[in-house]
Amino acid sequence: MQRAKELELLSNCLALAKAKTPYMEGDETLVPVWKYTDKARFDREYEAFFRAAPNLVAHRSQIAQPGDFITRQVGAVPALVVRGSDGSVNAFVNVCRHRGAIVEPRKRGHCKRFVCPYHAWTYRLDGGLDRVRHQDGFPNLDVASTSLVQLPAFEASGFIWAVADPTANADFVAALPTALLDELKGFDCASLDVFDSDSRTWKANWKLIVDGGLESYHFKIIHRDTIAKSFLDNGSSFEFIGDHIRSVLPRTSLLSLAERPQSEWDIRKHTNVLYSLFPNASLLVQEDHVVLILITPLSVGETGIEVTSLVPTSAVRSERAIRHWRANHALTVTTLREDFEIAEQVQRGAASGANEHYRFARFEAALSRWHELIDMKLGNP
Ligand code: FES
Repeated sequence: MQRAKELELLSNCLALAKAKTPYMEGDETLVPVWKYTDKARFDREYEAFFRAAPNLVAHRSQIAQPGDFITRQVGAVPALVVRGSDGSVNAFVNVCRHRGAIVEPRKRGHCKRFVCPYHAWTYRLDGGLDRVRHQDGFPNLDVASTSLVQLPAFEASGFIWAVADPTANADFVAALPTALLDELKGFDCASLDVFDSDSRTWKANWKLIVDGGLESYHFKIIHRDTIAKSFLDNGSSFEFIGDHIRSVLPRTSLLSLAERPQSEWDIRKHTNVLYSLFPNASLLVQEDHVVLILITPLSVGETGIEVTSLVPTSAVRSERAIRHWRANHALTVTTLREDFEIAEQVQRGAASGANEHYRFARFEAALSRWHELIDMKLGNP
């Protein structure tokens, strides 16, 4: 993040905190409840965002070495993301070209070849078909021109994106704003390593999961036993960077900046910076580490979520440090579960018919703008 932007964000937060007022813009808005429960609407979102748009699929460290791989569900496509022999990233449809078995069933690992578990067709790291057992039984098979179906993939600023549509234009990275990639690079995300990861399926529409990260009105209530004491009440502000949102969540320590010269101001010390990366990821930048949250919609009322703590490699050297990061990861998971449990409750309540609309306040304007973006991308409300 450029220093001028950092100072601007901190100045704005400080001014709001001194005035004891939340950041507000626009009008109070209404969002129809059916958008969270309607299967046809979900199918349209799924096609437009989770099949046709770039989805964040991994942190660099999850496939750091040639032969490292990770498997993901990207939209309806089982994807295999692998670091090639030349260090580049490739993504493939994880489906065998013989009779369609999942080629690599493990979540992640390391190998020199992928061997299909059904009849042992073997694929190289570049996806090419390497070996076919009893090949004389396939007189019409051209092994040299047969490979796993490639997906467009791209690595930037420490993260890897892929598109589930094999026919998508490989230049899709143009959809990722340079300003966003530069900010992530500035936080040195590429130098981090996975410390721990937690996955679970939640019975809530994917938009409820994102909604929860776009306001801090709820902090003092549902996070009262975890992180509430560390943050100002309803203090978050936001800014769009292309389709993505940067939210700044001021810590209580922010008020101390009023007594200090700007040369000492550090956004990571006095706020959490949350990037809602459209459509499927959130990145929570904290003082000394980063949390990556990956969202995988499974159905209109079901979402898979993976929470991964990324920490500086040099910070995990002693037993004491490991205890520290373990406690930190546990607190993150517990706090996010508080959000996701509420999302499940809202999804249950959505079917009751009690509400025709949900109501977003002027200080929940990030939700209003985000839902407007979705409507705009789908072409109508
Ligand atoms: Fe993969 Fe037969 S389905 S080898």
